[in-house]
Amino acid sequence: MGVRFKGWGVAVPERIVTNDELSKTLDTSDDWIAERTGIRERRIGGSAKSLGVLAGKRAMDDAFVDPADIDFLVLATTTPDRIAPATAPMIAHELGLSCPAMDVNAACSGFMYAIRTAYGLLETGNKRILVIGAEHLSRWVDWNDRNMAVLLADGAGATVLEYDPNDTDLLSFSLGADGSAADLLTCEHGGFFEMDGKEVFRRAVRVVVDSAEKALESAGISADDLSLVIPHQANIRIIQAATQRLGIEMERAVVVLDRFGNTSSASIPLAFDDARQNGRIKPGEFALLTGFGAGMTWASAIIRWS
Ligand code: COA
Repeated sequence: MGVRFKGWGVAVPERIVTNDELSKTLDTSDDWIAERTGIRERRIGGSAKSLGVLAGKRAMDDAFVDPADIDFLVLATTTPDRIAPATAPMIAHELGLSCPAMDVNAACSGFMYAIRTAYGLLETGNKRILVIGAEHLSRWVDWNDRNMAVLLADGAGATVLEYDPNDTDLLSFSLGADGSAADLLTCEHGGFFEMDGKEVFRRAVRVVVDSAEKALESAGISADDLSLVIPHQANIRIIQAATQRLGIEMERAVVVLDRFGNTSSASIPLAFDDARQNGRIKPGEFALLTGFGAGMTWASAIIRWS
């Protein structure tokens, strides 16, 4: 069974918030944020729905598909506009889709979980699936809390996945979840995101390395065969530590967190789109997509770009 990535689209709010701007109201600095996280600025605004609609529309245009061609919409979001209804049906409505639509919440692994879900749906008879990761994290940030305010941001990314009987872009997956770590990164109803940053950091490196190794093994390739790593964009130091342990030079990792911060389930498609726009993904080459997040959840996949 084969699956192709047919098109990509992204959307970020226009409003740019720099580290210097945050430093005006928080006890922090551009130097601290850049050095400890790699983030220099982020985009703030919109909603999961509005950003998801834009990214989804752009992915459908890029794939040259009409609304009637989409059999299912899977939206990854940690920050739905409302608890009920899910945000996916509202996005589907705006896009003119008449297919089933649902939200998937796996925090910052959400986009990879949504891709895995779409893969399963394609295996069972659907032809084309729109996968969107859209987040409005800024709504759930206490802007007086420097721990979270410097990290989280808003954005969306999307792709159209299509069944192909002959060949595949998606070679393997390795997903996991560990609810014993649930309290490390939380957002209670009506509350704000809170995190044990050090412990999340430590575990993130471990699960990225472990799931990447499993995905590589099941794809039958080694880390040396990878042209590119497209990681979740949480902290440059997590990306550095994980790639180093995998024996991959940083030059092969795609980094967009300097411009977009941590956009949770939007971060991998934002990074993927950046790599694609800059000609960093070439036909026939292998890439590792890998994410981790609250839950804890994690997910890696190996793709061969066509
Ligand atoms: N601005 C300025 N100073 C800050 C700060 C901020 N935003 N946050 C913490 N500090 C201070 C601390 O008070 C501490 O000061 P001290 O040495 O005087 O006690 C110092 O900086 C170091 O703090 P520490 O918490 O050890 O920093 P860190 O190097 O662990 O970095 C994170 C903090 C949150 C950036 C880091 O732990 C991290 O990125 N963790 C993973 C988070 C993540 O990826 N979450 C999303 C998962 S999807």
